[in-house]
Amino acid sequence: MATAILLVGGFGTRLMPLTKNTPKPMLTVAGIPVTEHQLKMAKAAGITRIVLATSYLAELFTPYFGDGSKWGMQIQYAVEKSPLGTGGAIRNAAKLINSSESIVILNGDVLSSHNLAEQIRQHEAHGADVTLHLTKVEDARAYGCVPTDPNGRVTAFLEKMENPVTNQINAGCYVFNPRVLESIPLDTVVSVERETFPALVASGAAVYGYIESSYWVDIGTPHALMNASTEIVNRDGDFLIMPGSKVDSSARLTGGSSVAGNCQVLAGALIDSSIIESDCSIGSNAQISRSYISKGTKVEDGAKITSSFVTNDEIISIP
Ligand code: GDD
Ligand code: MG
Repeated sequence: MATAILLVGGFGTRLMPLTKNTPKPMLTVAGIPVTEHQLKMAKAAGITRIVLATSYLAELFTPYFGDGSKWGMQIQYAVEKSPLGTGGAIRNAAKLINSSESIVILNGDVLSSHNLAEQIRQHEAHGADVTLHLTKVEDARAYGCVPTDPNGRVTAFLEKMENPVTNQINAGCYVFNPRVLESIPLDTVVSVERETFPALVASGAAVYGYIESSYWVDIGTPHALMNASTEIVNRDGDFLIMPGSKVDSSARLTGGSSVAGNCQVLAGALIDSSIIESDCSIGSNAQISRSYISKGTKVEDGAKITSSFVTNDEIISIP
């Protein structure tokens, strides 16, 4: 069965200050870290072995995920001393995998409900070198633009261009034939998007697209992060309270708000369209709207917070 590598080592610059002490994939969406959503998605596709390719704030993953047994998975950690880029990270993580089976790579900031098992199946049926999940977006400029021919073969890989030639983009989930990993140099900074994929396509390698436009989001910008969480919560109701949190019966949660574990929400608090990370305490009659409250933050009684990122040190308006 395929092994997966999760790329979780980026700086998450666009989500500062939330990412000052928390790596982007450990940010909370609908009550749990983004990485945990990905573990569940991978497991549903039959993957039970995962390597987390970490660099920035690498030490924050292990206390939460441990050896993975809590999720019925085996989790290992590949740590880059300094970030090796997406390609270098894949090559470095692959050192831990000695397998002739397909390897799945996931960008660590993407939530997707596409059919990964079918993507793997098509990859293997084609005998492909790499199969990329492709989806469609309105504005492709912030993504890798990936045109395909009528047989689904990738004809170019164009990372972040001003005038995209198609709105079909790289969705950040790849299936690799392990032989392709050997073409990436060891211990070298490499971008899979700017170097490996264009070189593979140019050399005539069998690079295929798996095209599926189901729910997909890159949570790398503030609005995408907030919307992803409220949308996921709204699938099952108006709010979500994770086990281990106490919410006073007179407090009101609306608009897809979520409260992660080990929080306290006191009487009369109003929380709308917001994300509350674990270990927070929300004071009585506090009003929080469209905001992200970081792990361990204490919000004062009666505080009014709108469209802000809140840590114990600062409150900044969501840009
Ligand atoms: N381990 C490690 N080391 N991980 C890294 C490194 C690194 O040096 N650099 C980036 N990553 C991880 C990030 O943590 C993130 O999970 C993933 O690689 C992608 O990096 P982003 O910085 O989020 O890239 P992007 O969103 O601008 O573009 C990528 O994703 C798009 C889809 O969301 C590209 O793959 C695009 O082609 C793609 O369309
Ligand atoms: Mg991203």
